Amino acid sequence: MTAKAGSGFKELQEEVLELKRALNAIIVAHNYQRPEVQDIADFTGDSLELARKCVGIKAKVIVFCGVLFMAETAAILNPGTTVLLSHRDAGCPLADTIDVDSLREWKGRYPEAAVVAYVNTTAAIKAESDICCTSANGVEVVNAIPDEEILFIPDRNLGHYVSTRTDKKLILYPGFCATHDNLSVEEVKAARQRYPQAKVLVHPECRPEVIELADAALSTSQMLRYAKGSNAKIFLIGTEEGMLYPLRKQNPDKEFHLISNSLVCPDMKKTTLERVIETMKARKNIVTVPEEIRVRAKKAIDRMLAIG
Ligand code: 13P
Repeated sequence: MTAKAGSGFKELQEEVLELKRALNAIIVAHNYQRPEVQDIADFTGDSLELARKCVGIKAKVIVFCGVLFMAETAAILNPGTTVLLSHRDAGCPLADTIDVDSLREWKGRYPEAAVVAYVNTTAAIKAESDICCTSANGVEVVNAIPDEEILFIPDRNLGHYVSTRTDKKLILYPGFCATHDNLSVEEVKAARQRYPQAKVLVHPECRPEVIELADAALSTSQMLRYAKGSNAKIFLIGTEEGMLYPLRKQNPDKEFHLISNSLVCPDMKKTTLERVIETMKARKNIVTVPEEIRVRAKKAIDRMLAIG
């Protein structure tokens, strides 16, 4: 498990920073990235924060250390900037659970419903949706739009969580993130037994019965704010293990334990410093979105960003 960035990465990190200067690039990294990758980023954050940071970026190149849908969002918001994805094959199996044909079929079944798309979707899906949301603002987005019936895609667990905090009718698409969906009630109970005084923080992509046992269901950056503001000293974390690094770094006086060792996203872990260097040297893994899709997808993202 990678919980600490070691000094062994110094040379590689310096090489990345040199390339960054040469390319006039900015590096952004999701909270789940390896510690040594988070440490070379200009910005780290959750999906919403990274989407906001990517609005009107001045650099010539954005190096996105994360997964494809996140880099696509950066490309959608910054058409004049070259966006490089840190690893060619870093995808999101959750985003891949829905394609345009199935979305159209679902829209046909619920013609009155507004489509709220979790940002963990492809650009093509965003282009077919009314508005995007993230795990940080799902409830706000659903409550802010005028529609009473909502087709929530593709994460059924986040959709269910949102449905418990609104009076609106949500129709849930059956997608899920295998990493979060795997977390079981038994694992949460066992962790609570080991640390009875701990606060349990889980991601809303976890199953409803797991969320029910938690003290809070939060996006990754909301977890950081919660841990900082809490008087508790021990926290049990129910999200991807990369989160342990910023949590521990920002709260050296507190303890953080992963609820299950299986909370590892293989796609997030594909990015290493060597891959970042390779990508920057060759200016490869350029993420492009066809203009006709980009313009429509941007509308759904902009509508979300305009909410609070
Ligand atoms: P956050 O927006 O909470 O960082 O979550 C991103 C994600 O992909 C969770 O699996």
